[in-house]
Amino acid sequence: MKILFFVLILIISVQAKYLDNYSCQECHEKIYEEFQSSYHAKSYFTDELHRKIADAVDTKTYVCATCHMPMANNLKELINGQARPDKNNKTHTDGVSCFFCHTIAFVKKSHQFNINIKARQAKGYKPTLYGRLEKPDDSDKHSSVKNPVYAKNVCIGCHSHKLNDNNVTIFQAIEKDQDSIECIKCHMPKVDGGVEKMDKRTRGEHVSHKFPGIHDKIFRATGVDINITTQEKKLLITLKNKMAHPIIIQPARVKFLKIKILRKDKIIWQNYQKEPSEDKQAYFAYRFTKNGKKITIPATATKGYVNNLNAKTTKVLSYNIPKLQKGDIIIVQFYVRLAKHDCASAIELDDKSIMDSLLIKEVKKSI
Ligand code: HEC
Ligand code: HEC
Ligand code: HEC
Ligand code: HEC
Ligand code: HEC
Repeated sequence: MKILFFVLILIISVQAKYLDNYSCQECHEKIYEEFQSSYHAKSYFTDELHRKIADAVDTKTYVCATCHMPMANNLKELINGQARPDKNNKTHTDGVSCFFCHTIAFVKKSHQFNINIKARQAKGYKPTLYGRLEKPDDSDKHSSVKNPVYAKNVCIGCHSHKLNDNNVTIFQAIEKDQDSIECIKCHMPKVDGGVEKMDKRTRGEHVSHKFPGIHDKIFRATGVDINITTQEKKLLITLKNKMAHPIIIQPARVKFLKIKILRKDKIIWQNYQKEPSEDKQAYFAYRFTKNGKKITIPATATKGYVNNLNAKTTKVLSYNIPKLQKGDIIIVQFYVRLAKHDCASAIELDDKSIMDSLLIKEVKKSI
């Protein structure tokens, strides 16, 4: 009986053999390096903002694991509170791991959030990894198969939407039936260098796994266009969202405009005095209430509100200003705070810079 038990365990563990991120480095050196610098490589242990909020939601259960620690070999136990994140477990520290993404078989659409369904790996054989290469080579570590999921659904298992248990939307990034190929074109641009180290198939290029986003200074400036026009005593700012998702996805974030009119180096008008939230139309963020009271962390919210700018839409903001003179300069700056200042009332961050205002884009107009 005991022997049979051991044999069973052995079969199960062979079946579920996990190849950690580092093991890909041997052949996919460049992709590995890119990935390591990406936010997908972050985990509960290395993303302070995520960890602090997760702990403020619940210190016993880690329900966030589904998307933030998807490879965990004890996912169920993390979610129901029978286990805690463990820094010595590679399936916990690898984040949104290589192996996880490349074994997604399909994505099940669901009301609260979508669900990634993993491919069943054949017992005793090397794992099969999916991708989008034409006629991919096998290697002694894994087989390769082209799978249409890698253009269609691979990003929407986690990035589409999330509702809390009260049916309140925590984020809504993607419309129903939106494909992932658009996401890939912007967030995984083609770069030089073979798919694997030897480039045996002389492909000469691969898709970058840096996943640039809001943290990348150059990349983040490309998401919006800002245009300034003036009429008599009116200032019109046209904000165009070029991205395939709203400008605010993450409820911890805020994006806002800071607008100044300078006359001989003196500010003669600005859109807010102290806090950007004074200018409601140019303050893009989520806010939540629980039974009518304002709360910061949305997990238990009963209502949510958002001032957002949807995918590929344009909004014109209008301001009454003093009559302009020749030589006046209008400066419009678009900023993001990765964590809104409200977060400070709910969590204590060691790295306060997460709350700084980071410039996304600046435009000027001289009269
Ligand atoms: C349905 C999948 C999903 C679940 C479940 C989920 N998240 Fe996320 N989370 C994401 C995605 C996708 C991102 C990246 C999107 C973005 O940055 O806009 C993200 C980003 C974040 C960020 C921003 C990270 C940073 O460094 O700026 C925080 C904070 C966060 N999540 C907290 C949580 C917490 C806390 C939980 C559990 C209570 C949770 N998430 C559960 C999908 C999920
Ligand atoms: C021993 C070398 C080796 C190791 C280790 C290795 N790979 Fe590969 N991999 C290859 C080769 C060779 C190809 C085929 C490249 C080609 O056709 O140009 C490939 C192709 C792929 C593809 C493309 C599949 C497709 O159908 O488009 C993916 C995805 C992939 N590898 C992921 C990984 C991941 C994830 C790891 C780590 C868990 C890993 N590989 C480890 C050698 C390796
Ligand atoms: C298993 C869930 C999961 C899948 C699948 C997934 N992501 Fe993510 N993604 C996340 C999480 C979680 C984060 C936030 C990590 C953090 O900040 O701690 C994130 C962050 C990001 C970011 C933000 C980077 C930054 O620095 O601002 C981008 C861009 C991104 N993902 C793009 C993609 C694309 C494109 C795909 C599809 C090819 C994809 N993701 C698939 C979970 C996922
Ligand atoms: C036209 C290019 C473009 C497309 C298409 C696009 N994005 Fe983005 N995305 C950006 C840019 C630029 C940023 C960074 C600037 C910003 O967030 O304002 C960004 C930011 C993000 C972030 C980080 C948000 C945050 O606050 O942390 C995530 C996550 C993300 N995109 C996921 C996706 C997913 C998933 C798709 C597919 C539905 C997608 N993107 C499609 C350009 C694009
Ligand atoms: C967030 C999901 C995600 C993660 C994490 C991820 N990949 Fe990928 N990878 C993709 C997608 C999507 C493609 C296909 C992009 C395309 O060609 O349209 C891809 C393509 C590839 C390819 C084929 C190269 C090419 O140019 O098409 C290889 C090899 C690969 N990945 C290896 C890795 C390795 C190694 C890691 C970890 C170090 C990793 N991936 C992590 C989503 C991911």
